[in-house]
Amino acid sequence: MSKKIGIVTGGGDCPGLNAVIRAVVKAAARRGWETIGIIGGYEGLLPPQNLRPLDYHALDGLLLRGGTILGTANRGRFSAKVGHGETRGLPDELLAETKQGFDSLGLHALVSIGGDGSLSIAQQLYEYGIPIVGVPKTIDNDLAATIMTFGFDSAVACATDALDRLHTTAESHQRVMVLEVMGRYAGWIAIYSGVAGGADVILIPEIPFTYESICAKIAEREQAGKHFTIVAAAEGARPAGGEFVTAAGQQQNREARLGGVGAQVAAEIEKRTGKETRVVVLGHLQRGGSPTNLDRALCTVFGAKAVELIAEGRFGQMVAYTGPQVIGVKISEAVGKLRTVPLDGGFVQSARALGICLGD
Ligand code: F6P
Repeated sequence: MSKKIGIVTGGGDCPGLNAVIRAVVKAAARRGWETIGIIGGYEGLLPPQNLRPLDYHALDGLLLRGGTILGTANRGRFSAKVGHGETRGLPDELLAETKQGFDSLGLHALVSIGGDGSLSIAQQLYEYGIPIVGVPKTIDNDLAATIMTFGFDSAVACATDALDRLHTTAESHQRVMVLEVMGRYAGWIAIYSGVAGGADVILIPEIPFTYESICAKIAEREQAGKHFTIVAAAEGARPAGGEFVTAAGQQQNREARLGGVGAQVAAEIEKRTGKETRVVVLGHLQRGGSPTNLDRALCTVFGAKAVELIAEGRFGQMVAYTGPQVIGVKISEAVGKLRTVPLDGGFVQSARALGICLGD
């Protein structure tokens, strides 16, 4: 039977969104279903609706293209996150208006591609009666119920490349180089890229750091004749007993913007060790550009699975990668629980085994 399904992308963008859109459209077309893109996040469902038919023949190049052809938003009426990651519910009027918008289009289901915030909204919309399935997106990799979100691998690739580049200049100038990476309250990007990029010090939110520990590592390297040091710092890293460092110009009713810990760490290292220290904030470079091979594959499998979940009527579920398999799990199992780097996990243990300083 012919069906019409909608696709919406929400929250911060990342590499691979277009690859998921492509996979959903292709898999839907194989079943004879039509797909409609909702422009600018869930807001596009509200009057005056902002839509884009997703023609099977207009998918060329999407697998590689960064960003999202549907646009996205992490602010406004559909923003579910405030402060340091607290989730807030949508008012009933907005849920009703969104349901009306969905019904008016004659949609059979909605595919919501997003992170914790967008999928929390997806869960509320599902509870309100919209048949919805989720696809887990975020460079932060902090969603529960999946061992990997798409976008993460591409961000790690970008951060690893930056660390490689910093190595050569750090060595030439005998400097300490601090790279601040994204990830909010989880240290996944920092620990993966730090290990892959050979960082000497990796600071993650899960392990509060002390300057004594960082400077001891620098001194150890100096004694061993290594006159440069590379520090990978997650934006959510903080000193023991200290607060998260937030960027200037915070806006009310929005999620806090982290940023600035790298500069603080660099200044303190220089003060304590006397070694010339520089900081690089990698910022949104981690969210731009083409997805990596792994992300392309993950996005394609995720998109196909999302269509399968719809075909099986498994609404309120999210596609999840469990390692060997891609399965459907309840969206409610994935949202509202930050998935952080486990301290007894392989990455932390291996980093310690290699003598990488984790700041404690
Ligand atoms: O959640 C993804 C993310 O890139 C975080 O790693 C980062 O803290 C935040 O979004 C940046 O948000 P914005 O694009 O609003 O500055």
